[in-house]
Order: sequence, then structure tokens, then C-alpha cells
Amino acid sequence: MKFLVTGGAGYIGSHMVNLLLKKNSEVVVLDNLSTGHEYNIQDCEHLNIDLVDTENLSKKLNKRKFDGIFHFAGKSLVSESINNPDLYYLNNITGTKNLLKVMLDNDLNNLIFSSSAAVYGKSELDFITEDANKMPINPYGKSKLQAEKDINQTSKQYGLNSISLRYFNACGADPEGKFGEDHACETHLIPNILQSLLDPKEEFYVYGNNYPTKDGTCIRDYVHVSDIVDTHYLAFENFGVSRMQQAYNIGIGKGFSVLEIIKACEQVTKNKIDIKFKDKREGDPISLVADNKSILADLNWNPQFTSMTNIIDSAWRWHTKRFILYGH
Ligand code: UFG
Repeated sequence: MKFLVTGGAGYIGSHMVNLLLKKNSEVVVLDNLSTGHEYNIQDCEHLNIDLVDTENLSKKLNKRKFDGIFHFAGKSLVSESINNPDLYYLNNITGTKNLLKVMLDNDLNNLIFSSSAAVYGKSELDFITEDANKMPINPYGKSKLQAEKDINQTSKQYGLNSISLRYFNACGADPEGKFGEDHACETHLIPNILQSLLDPKEEFYVYGNNYPTKDGTCIRDYVHVSDIVDTHYLAFENFGVSRMQQAYNIGIGKGFSVLEIIKACEQVTKNKIDIKFKDKREGDPISLVADNKSILADLNWNPQFTSMTNIIDSAWRWHTKRFILYGH
């Protein structure tokens, strides 16, 4: 089988490419390398195209056939989206519309879209269901929600198979240690903790200690990147076979506070972490935990990384290797 993976040089995309290659599929990666890395895509064809470059996009994809398209390309930092919303609307909304047009022009039918729990905004629910209110509180979440709507509408109108997978907090690294998180500007919790242990120059801060939670810090649902990409393949396999919702939550269904994650990192790395607090970070919801019953039932998803220690252990092995190889 042959697949197109947009954003295949990035964190989650590279794990998807690896999974597809292991299944002996042919993979074409479309990635402008704005945040992704060439080292992630050694064994597949690479199209260095920007999804907003419509001319090049239709030229390079004209008459090409793919059994499925996994769409990861886009901007994904909440804080950057607050400072530069237009960048997010352009890349995530217009970029997705351009991809949909290419699909229609070339009779490509199967789309799996990388969405986010950010579409829910500040949810009051302990466990967020897919039909919960969607009131995103940052441009990143707004852009993902609009892209989902555009995909749904186009799919209904033209009979495409499509699905949006709303990740909660993606984390961890390839268990074989080949891939992992490598952002030029890292904002995520687990990489920031681990990098501060590897590099004494890296300061780590906890953003906010007076949230209305058990220990005053934010609660998140951390889901391993390998389990995330498995859901994508399951969704592809189930197109046309079983009835699926238009969107699914991808989370383990268990909430951890920032302080609990720090403790788990201390256990895995056998290092003490110096905890310093800073003001709350703009755009951070108090708690985001998935109700994941739908995906467990409909797609028979069987996440492998249900222990936080195993998740952090995979990340620690990757970050240690990355620090040795690239020095950051
Ligand atoms: N945090 C710190 N210190 C850090 C980094 C993060 O205390 O150095 C805290 C954050 O304030 C937050 C928690 O750790 O409470 C998790 O933060 P991350 O940056 O790791 O992840 P986010 O929760 O911001 O991101 C997730 C998803 C996005 C989604 C967003 C919605 O990755 O896709 O939630 O707000 F958009």
C-alpha cells in the first residue's frame, strides 16, 4: 500500500512513517522541514513542499495515487499561536483546505487528520467526551476546530472517508530509540524536565501553583506517541468496514498533575529536580483528560503505554541519546 504523510519529518509524523514502513508500505512524506528533521525520513520519498504553496502542491501531487493520507503538517504550539494567530490560521486551516482540494482533484479518498484536545478549550468535565462543548481558548485550538469542520463538510459533500483524531498530551519516544521529540523551541513538560537534567544551562519552571486541582498544578492526560500512531492505522483500516465517528479522543483517560509528572521523572532518571514556580502560562486549561470509551470500543484500540514510568523511560532514553548526538 502507498501512503502520503504530511508533516512526516516531525515528532508524531516520523513515528507514523516508521510504523507504515514496518508494515512494508510505500511512504511519501510531504514536509517543508520548517520544524521537522531530514534525519527522520531517510527511507522514503520526500516532497519538500509547503501546504500553502498551492501551485507546487498541485504540480507535485497531480495524478499521484495514495491509499490513504495521514495529515500531521501544521503549527502546534499554543504560546506561538497566541503571539501569531495568522500563522496558525494560514498553516492549519488554509493548508488543510489546500490538501482537500488536491484530494478531490486526484480522487484520493481516505484522510486521517491530526487534531487536538485544544478544540475543547476550558472544559468543566472530569472526562471530556467527543460531543463536549468546543470553545477553544487559543488560536491553535481554533485553527484545529475549523480544519475539522472543513474536513467534515468536504467529506459529506464529496463522499470522502475522513476522521479527526484529537490527541491529548502526546509524549514519549520510539521504544527502539530511533525517533523522539526534537523541537528547536521546546515548550512541552516532559522534554523540558528531562532537558534540564541533561543540560544544567536549561532552566525548568512549573507554570502556576494555585490552580483548583489536588496539588495546585494543571492536570493532563499523557498518551504515548506509538499508541497515537496506532490509532491512525486502525482508523485507516476501519474506513468503509465499520461505522466510525467523525472524531475521536486519543488519550489514556487518566489525569496527572505537573508535580506528579516531575515525581515520575525523578523516579525514572534517579535525579532530583529542583522545582521553581512561575506565573501561569497564558492559554493553559486547568484540566484536560479524555473520555476514551469511543475509540476503545469502535476501533478496538489497545494502548501499550499505560504506565507513566514506561512513557518517561522511553523519552529519557531518547533525550539522552539526542543530547549525546546533537548536544542539545
Ligand atoms: N508546563 C510547565 N513547565 C514547562 C512546560 C509545561 O509547568 O516547562 C506545564 C504547562 O503549564 C501545562 C502542562 O505542563 O500545565 C503541560 O504542558 P505542555 O506544554 O506539555 O502541553 P500542553 O498541555 O500545553 O499541550 C497540550 C497539547 C496541545 C493542546 C494543549 C491545549 O499538546 O495539543 O494541550 O492547551 F493544544
